[in-house]
Amino acid sequence: MDTRIAPAVEAPTKDYRGTLRFWHWANALLISLQLMTILFQKVIVKSKSAVTELQSSGKDVSVPQARELAHIISERIWAWHIYFGWALVALWVFWLVLQLSGPSELRFSARLLGVLRRYRLAPPADKSKAGKILFAKTTYALFYLFLTIMVATGLILIFEDVSWLKGIHHLAEETHNVTMYLIIGFILIHVVGVVWAEMKEDHGLISRMVGGEEKK
Ligand code: HEM
Repeated sequence: MDTRIAPAVEAPTKDYRGTLRFWHWANALLISLQLMTILFQKVIVKSKSAVTELQSSGKDVSVPQARELAHIISERIWAWHIYFGWALVALWVFWLVLQLSGPSELRFSARLLGVLRRYRLAPPADKSKAGKILFAKTTYALFYLFLTIMVATGLILIFEDVSWLKGIHHLAEETHNVTMYLIIGFILIHVVGVVWAEMKEDHGLISRMVGGEEKK
């Protein structure tokens, strides 16, 4: 058999190279931590409404004192958001370097083109399976876009004192906010899709992404 010709539909059994697995899990961890900072900031601690609660409870604390405490707590949570943000920036730069100069099996664009080619060449009976693989890859393309937007807008928010960035600060803030929901949407679709694939047609997919061993 000529090994240079890829099969029409079957995606090659991947052994998810260590680099990809590292990037995947480091990103998953950091995004989860970012979401947790927002959960604490906006839902659990909610320092602004805590001030109002404190006021109405009649405790012996002045409003400026309560506001100051709320501000300190809020700033601490944002500081963690920014540390995790910088770690995400580093991972994003690492990803960009891989995309621009890494080997083709680590380059997303090369893998996306491969899947598109297999979809085009698939006989009618295999079209649906090839279509599902193409759909999954398209959601990853969207995820990389969302991540890029998050990193870019996050940096604009960090450098809020830079005069030429002031004009787009509000837009960046709104975009950062909305993109968070798009990322949450991606995570939900991704987790459901992966569990579905693991159960139905690609047994061992999750352990390959964790341990990286080849499917027997
Ligand atoms: C996917 C991960 C991320 C999520 C879910 C997320 C979510 C959010 C949300 C919801 C806000 C509040 C915006 C508002 O108040 O309207 C925020 C603020 C902010 N984010 Fe992120 N973010 C993420 C990644 C990043 C990254 C990568 C950076 C840095 C490069 C960053 C830096 C910031 C900064 C500086 C603020 C403003 C903090 C402040 O008001 O003091 N974020 N983020």
